[in-house]
Amino acid sequence: MMASRHIFGTLQRRAFSASARQASKVAVLGGAGGIGQPLSLLMKLNPRVSELAVYDIKGAAGVAADIGHINTKSVVTGYQNDEKELDACLKGSEIVLIPAGVPRKPGMTRDDLFNTNASIVRDLAKAIAESAPDANILVISNPVNSTVPIVAEILKSKGIYNPKRLFGVTTLDVVRASRFISQHKSTDPADENITVIGGHSGATIVPLLSQSGYSLEGKDLDDYVYRVQFGGDEVVKAKDGAGSATLSMAMAGARFAESLLKAAQGQKGVVEPTFVDSPLYKDQGIDFFASRVELGPSGVEKIHDVGKITPKEQELLDVCLKDLKGNIAKGVKFVKENP
Ligand code: NAD
Ligand code: LMR
Repeated sequence: MMASRHIFGTLQRRAFSASARQASKVAVLGGAGGIGQPLSLLMKLNPRVSELAVYDIKGAAGVAADIGHINTKSVVTGYQNDEKELDACLKGSEIVLIPAGVPRKPGMTRDDLFNTNASIVRDLAKAIAESAPDANILVISNPVNSTVPIVAEILKSKGIYNPKRLFGVTTLDVVRASRFISQHKSTDPADENITVIGGHSGATIVPLLSQSGYSLEGKDLDDYVYRVQFGGDEVVKAKDGAGSATLSMAMAGARFAESLLKAAQGQKGVVEPTFVDSPLYKDQGIDFFASRVELGPSGVEKIHDVGKITPKEQELLDVCLKDLKGNIAKGVKFVKENP
């Protein structure tokens, strides 16, 4: 009797501490947009989330009211276009996802979005510094290679920069790389998890097929690499002026947020490629780089180096590093000139 009561008590405590650890508030800034809506939906479906805060300059109240009817436990609140509202949205958030900003139209590069999105992301970073200085910040807004350094510079200027808590979301590249190889090889995409390193635009996206035991050659390899690097363009073209990837991006953003929540809630060995403040190429003046990163309760736990790669992958990496350096410098310069 004593033994069973003890076991019951232990189970109760375990259940309690598990649910206590699952009390995570997640904020989505730009939550009424093409990505923001399905991303908010997926966060509402995630049992690790206890509170979902949706902020946008327009439409957040409607999205929150709609999603709020879904019969999962989390509380959903919409916040709209006001400093105080943004502050309330951010307060207590463990994860802040940022898909705010304009998407591409056909013929544009991600860098063409810089002029509009740089100031949107800068201003949101200032609000985060004020209201959620300890949050994990997940930047989706393009161009990621520049918007992540912008957030870092703002946080530095406020004296609260924690490089372990800032992430550029590059998960969509991993998702595409895995899907595209499964189409090529007729494998189950669920079994594929291709590492993608570098950054998030064109030639800065470097898939490392060899690390998953694949050895495509010649045109097959070139076509594959091109498709991963320019997968975003396929969607922009197909949407024909109506924007870029939103649904697959929402899935990718939700996957990354889920990985962070798992790691924060005690799961070990959670690894995702992501664009972070990284030591790997700092000696070449490149402060941010996406590689496999182990996540933990403090955010970045361990940054893995690139590992063994083929000469062809090294060629791709060399091109990537050159582009990346300029993209990062552009973000840093923007904050210096427009603090
Ligand atoms: P969208 O135009 O559909 O939605 C953007 C939302 O941001 C809108 O609802 C808009 O009102 C809101 N917004 C604008 N300024 C804001 C501000 N200051 N504060 C809060 N909200 C604000 O665009 P989308 O298709 O959702 O794309 C959003 C961004 O994500 C784009 O920059 C796009 O390039 C990028 N993106 C990144 C990836 C990636 O892999 N990292 C993938 C797809 C798209
Ligand atoms: C993507 O990779 O789909 C996004 O970065 C959006 C874009 O502009 O292509």
